[in-house]
Amino acid sequence: MGKKTASLPPSAPSTDHPPRLLQKLSQKLFADPTEQQAFMQPILVPQPFLPAILWLAPQPDPAPFAVATRLDWQPHFVDRLLTETRPGKHPLHQQGAFYCLDFSSVFAAAVLQGIDRSIEVIIDLCAAPGGKSIFAWKLLQPSLLISNEVIGKRMGALISNLKRCHIQPAYAICRDPSLLATALPQTADLVLVDAPCSGQSLLAKAEKNPGCFHPVTIGKNANRQKRILANAAQIVAPQGFLAYMTCTYAPEENEQVCTWLLERFPHLQPIAVPLLDAYRSPLAEFPCYRMFPQSGLGAGAFTILLKHQDDSTPLPLPSDRLTTFLQQHQDYQIGNQRNEATASPL
Ligand SMILES: C[S@@+](CC[C@H](N)C(=O)[O-])C[C@H]1O[C@@H](n2cnc3c(N)ncnc32)[C@H](O)[C@@H]1O
Repeated sequence: MGKKTASLPPSAPSTDHPPRLLQKLSQKLFADPTEQQAFMQPILVPQPFLPAILWLAPQPDPAPFAVATRLDWQPHFVDRLLTETRPGKHPLHQQGAFYCLDFSSVFAAAVLQGIDRSIEVIIDLCAAPGGKSIFAWKLLQPSLLISNEVIGKRMGALISNLKRCHIQPAYAICRDPSLLATALPQTADLVLVDAPCSGQSLLAKAEKNPGCFHPVTIGKNANRQKRILANAAQIVAPQGFLAYMTCTYAPEENEQVCTWLLERFPHLQPIAVPLLDAYRSPLAEFPCYRMFPQSGLGAGAFTILLKHQDDSTPLPLPSDRLTTFLQQHQDYQIGNQRNEATASPL
């Protein structure tokens, strides 16, 4: 995924001649040509979206930032900031009073509001730099959060964010999801898969992402998502939840990956999240949700919540498995070579 650009490059495509692959995507997403045009416009001519912050400490009075009117699905601990202030520069940020994230991420994580029972153990398989882990921790107050990130060099940001925001009890680990699937079967009440994806929505944030509409890029990402989800499916405890989300638009990576998952793991079933009804994807018969850039709220996201419907007795003693797992890995120092086990109690 590319670097931020201050403004559109001179060679940026005009709205009159959108690139062919973007046009094809718009036709897959929308039948109506006006809607196709509305979808492409913010991708071709990006405009800034209002930033959001997730409060971890009680919100000060008076409020340090001007905030936009709350949307009905917006959690009480999230504010959307009215101005383009840089909240990351505020002293309260360094103190861990809040975490900055974009509003599309808030939308993607908002699906967790559909969880209707208490959650003890959360395992986030794609965690760095930590936004969804922190959101899930704040919303669900688990007794244990394990934030996993497979790319070693992304661990620093994850650990520093979890520490700064005082997220505990939590562990940051660096493992391939397949290892967690083997070591921790049916262990988590919630597994988060905020999946690596083709990142098409980055364009609506004026970031470069060459090749993101190419079928090869999309196919590779869809396959990687399936691999991660197949591991995730094994980690979810009976009656537990799996949340899958991306920041891309291609149906091959979103709805179609879900269709594959449901065929392969029929004990996982999508859960409707009534708060997000207005965002329901028309591209699937099951409930899943999309924010599009033309909403003006965020660059875009896809999100779904699934529940493990099997009410057979869970494998014995998930807490023992967790304790053993964490004992085995907690002595490793962050910064070991990639693919080595690394873990750190926070
Ligand atoms: C969209 S980002 C996650 C953002 C994060 N959840 C947050 O909210 O701050 C996807 C993450 O998946 C990781 N990733 C890449 N390949 C992966 C794989 N094969 N298995 C698991 N995670 C992978 C990336 O390194 C990246 O950190």
